[in-house]
Amino acid sequence: MSEPVSAARIVVVDDQLSHLKALCDILGQHRFDAIGCATGEAALATLRTGNFDVLLTDLVMPGIDGLALIEAARALDPHIACIIMTGEGTVDTAVKAMKIGVMDYVVKPFKAATLLPILDRAIESRRLRVQNVKLEAALRERVEELGFLNTVLDAARKEAERANQEKSTFLSSMSHELRTPLNSILGFAQILASDKFPKGQGDSQRFAQNIVQSGRHLLSLVNEILDLAKIEAGKIPLTIAPVALDAALREAYVIVGPLAQARQVTLAPLPETRLELAADEMRLKQILVNLLSNAVKYNREHGKVSVRCMQHEGHCSVAVSDSGQGLSPAQLASIFLPFSRAGREDNKEEGTGLGLTITQRLVEAMRGTIEVESEPGVGSTFRIDLPLHGAAAPAANTHGSRHASLRP
Ligand SMILES: Nc1ncnc2c1ncn2[C@@H]1O[C@H](COP(=O)(O)OP(=O)(O)OP(=O)(O)O)[C@@H](O)[C@H]1O
Ligand SMILES: [Mg+2]
Repeated sequence: MSEPVSAARIVVVDDQLSHLKALCDILGQHRFDAIGCATGEAALATLRTGNFDVLLTDLVMPGIDGLALIEAARALDPHIACIIMTGEGTVDTAVKAMKIGVMDYVVKPFKAATLLPILDRAIESRRLRVQNVKLEAALRERVEELGFLNTVLDAARKEAERANQEKSTFLSSMSHELRTPLNSILGFAQILASDKFPKGQGDSQRFAQNIVQSGRHLLSLVNEILDLAKIEAGKIPLTIAPVALDAALREAYVIVGPLAQARQVTLAPLPETRLELAADEMRLKQILVNLLSNAVKYNREHGKVSVRCMQHEGHCSVAVSDSGQGLSPAQLASIFLPFSRAGREDNKEEGTGLGLTITQRLVEAMRGTIEVESEPGVGSTFRIDLPLHGAAAPAANTHGSRHASLRP
């Protein structure tokens, strides 16, 4: 809706005071808000005090003349509607003035009936210009917003494609990993069932042992895949509560102890610590057992495993170090990927290649991080970093139940 014309504010400039007064009176009667100024200087000072719709000015004046005033007024407000009042002899100048942005002119002496339609036109034209500028600004804003949304959408699409690709790779690796022990089971079972292969008691026992071993491997694969799938789907409720780190470490040592003994690997005495983590107790133990069992499994004979704990800025890091074969940069690049066995597929060590993937997902779901340092031939250190209980942490990280989140 257009603004009522009566709301228009007009600065009228004329050095002939009687003319100025008469003009302001007439404009006032027609409900314009007119302010009269006898000089260009006074008009400029008035224009600086606020928003005006129209500058109606004489052309020839002492001091700042009409043209200079118009330029100064348009510098203050490029949309102000400028109208000049001119005598017969200066019509040429009035035409030139229109070329510098003056909207209209009126030849003196004039009647109200001549001026009023000119004013209405000028005010409407100014209103449209101002509206246009606003619309253009809104349009620009909208275009920028759309551009931003497009970038977000593009990033989301790329992320979805990446996740899709990751899932496909996971599925093909999984079917390969499941097929290997299954084929072995079927192969040995077929030999046992067949009467074409004469076998001694020893052979049958060996074949049966192979079946049992492959069956166990298949079972741990299925269990770990299910665990990972649950974590990925956010279906694991994590109960984040204060957990005494020393007790969790002691329990993990008890679980890994027999394996270490069998491999003649020494578990160094645990450090004394009174730190309390904000973590899910069961999952924290699972993480520690995964790291410790790797440190034992991929160690050398008579090797050593040690644990260090360090507190820093509301966090605690637990480092599990071994004196094993270590990992090359190329191996390090893939160890957290599902089914990655870092080239140790044919190694005597059994494994699914899912332990570190699950460990990383769990650590991140508990708002922690995991990193590894390794020197081939010297050993590796896996370090997890988790929030301490009571430290200022994001709201979701405090007590209570929440779900493990999907990794990006
Ligand atoms: N401490 C370590 N030293 C050397 N290599 C390691 C160490 N920990 C892990 N690795 C390498 O990273 C690979 C992936 O480890 P991860 O724990 O994910 O699987 P895994 O041990 O093979 O199987 P799982 O943990 O399911 O029994 C291992 O196969 C091994 O080659
Ligand atoms: Mg492992």
